[in-house]
Amino acid sequence: MTDLIARLGEAVGAAFAGLGLDAALGRVTASDRPDLADFQCNGALAGAKATKRDPRRIAAAIAARLGADPMIASVEVAGPGFINLRVTAATLSARASELAGDARAGAGVVAQPRRVLIDYGGPNVAKEMHVGHLRASIIGEAIKRLHRFRGDETLGDAHFGDWGFQMGLLIVACADVDAGIAALLARLATKPDGFTEADEQAIDARLSAAIALDDLDRLYPAAAARAKSDLDYRDRARRATAELQAGHFGYRLIWAHFARITRAALERDFHALGVDFDLWRGESDVDPLIDPMVVELDAKGLLIDDQGARIIRVARDDDRREVPPLLVVSSEGSAMYGTTDLATILDRRNFFDPQLILYVVDQRQADHFETVFRAAYLAGYAVPGALEHIGFGTMNGVDGKPFKTREGGVLKLRDLIDMARGKARERLEEAGLGREFPPEEFETTALQVAVAALKFADLINFRGTSYVFDLDRFSSFEGKTGPYLLYQAVRMKSLLRKAAADGEKAGTVKIDAPAERDLVLLLDAFDHALAEAYDKSAPNLIADHAYRLAQTFAKFYAACPVLAAPDAATKASRLTLTATTLKQMESALEVLGIATPERM
Ligand code: ARG
Repeated sequence: MTDLIARLGEAVGAAFAGLGLDAALGRVTASDRPDLADFQCNGALAGAKATKRDPRRIAAAIAARLGADPMIASVEVAGPGFINLRVTAATLSARASELAGDARAGAGVVAQPRRVLIDYGGPNVAKEMHVGHLRASIIGEAIKRLHRFRGDETLGDAHFGDWGFQMGLLIVACADVDAGIAALLARLATKPDGFTEADEQAIDARLSAAIALDDLDRLYPAAAARAKSDLDYRDRARRATAELQAGHFGYRLIWAHFARITRAALERDFHALGVDFDLWRGESDVDPLIDPMVVELDAKGLLIDDQGARIIRVARDDDRREVPPLLVVSSEGSAMYGTTDLATILDRRNFFDPQLILYVVDQRQADHFETVFRAAYLAGYAVPGALEHIGFGTMNGVDGKPFKTREGGVLKLRDLIDMARGKARERLEEAGLGREFPPEEFETTALQVAVAALKFADLINFRGTSYVFDLDRFSSFEGKTGPYLLYQAVRMKSLLRKAAADGEKAGTVKIDAPAERDLVLLLDAFDHALAEAYDKSAPNLIADHAYRLAQTFAKFYAACPVLAAPDAATKASRLTLTATTLKQMESALEVLGIATPERM
């Protein structure tokens, strides 16, 4: 199924070719001036430049050739040589019927599906989530769903930060507050003979009783702060880290406990936000790959000694900025953040062999990824181009700095969701929906409204742009907001429900009114928006399409009565248009990770 843009592009391209010009000049886009035309082609200007001819004459010749095309109602030459096109009502009616009959409402799939791994979210054990993680989760989830929707085989991996110095810090901090645990761990440097599953469960129970998530939240910041000034303390934490990584049995048990309780809480909060990872591979999972990898990198002649550390130089002569080397082994003998990322590429190759890995991570890590990618290409761990960093700006507070809570702390995901949910409840009450809904439905709807508010406010911006957190505005039922989109979708649903209850049937589309034309032209543009969003990793293009659907539907609904249409055929046609708009809207929202309530 091709969209009108493509079909017209072909016709206009053939007209250019007929004049002896490049058919590619026939590229057609949606009109900048919908009041004057449906589509436009600016190719005559480029064609004139290339051949030193008069653009208006070329445009006129193209127009003359297109005049006979049955799809086209009118062709006009405007300004210096723009070609403005209008399609016939019959063309729009046929296209609308096609879209209505399509299970995907016009959404195509890629010609060559790939295996794509999306690395996003990136939460850590103990270390608090910050807005960078929030945006990574929202944008990454949308990009994953977009690839899946377009037919790729996808895996979304949280790349859980469960390894490194923060683990040693936590072990030391816990041992300091609970002498019993400290003694227990000390006795378990290696796995005792005859240690059974029951023994392990008993220790787990002991750890669970003594250390809860709240404790980690409290202990970690204090320990991290203390390690900055207290060198003995820092050394103890470093030693604990080294022992953990060397396989200290007791440390492994307590570490597993930290990871488990953190992950359970994170998964629950992410799920509330409509973010669900396929994998929670941890940084720790690739630890066993690191030693053999270092040996191999050395054998490939890539490792250079640098003041006791071992690095890979990745800078090139033609670099316009300084690209730092990859620090593979520090002077203290530890593997670093980049080492883990390099080993993770190997790991992913082993279990999924992705053709593309997208790293949806804060723009501030751009240099890190450039370095890791180059090292991976040098080592032959990935083919050039198969690794891509999808960076993004920050969510700021009104002060223009990365958003913090009123107390100045980083924002917890759970608190953010609670805040947004509270605001959504208020809005629903204001709209008079509080008493109407059974309590359970009210709560579900409030969460859906909250998630729509948060996600849409993020996704409507191009990811590179930073934006200001403004929950009041995000949650409004009016304007360019998630709740406004839900509200329009819900109107479509209730209209269709009412029609079904009245025994009304959708039927053949016949386009007549301007508001109907506008709606079909927009429905036609869905696949184009999806394809461009996919190519540019830009979910904002889908958010924008969804917003325009809501707006255009609202105008259509105001101008074109549906259940009160003048005759049965018009009613049936408008019901089909409504159902198709809803289907497309729900698909777009689904890709953005936003669920639609039944009523609101
Ligand atoms: N855990 C990291 C952080 O908090 C983000 C991980 C991003 N992904 C990656 N493959 N490095 O900064």
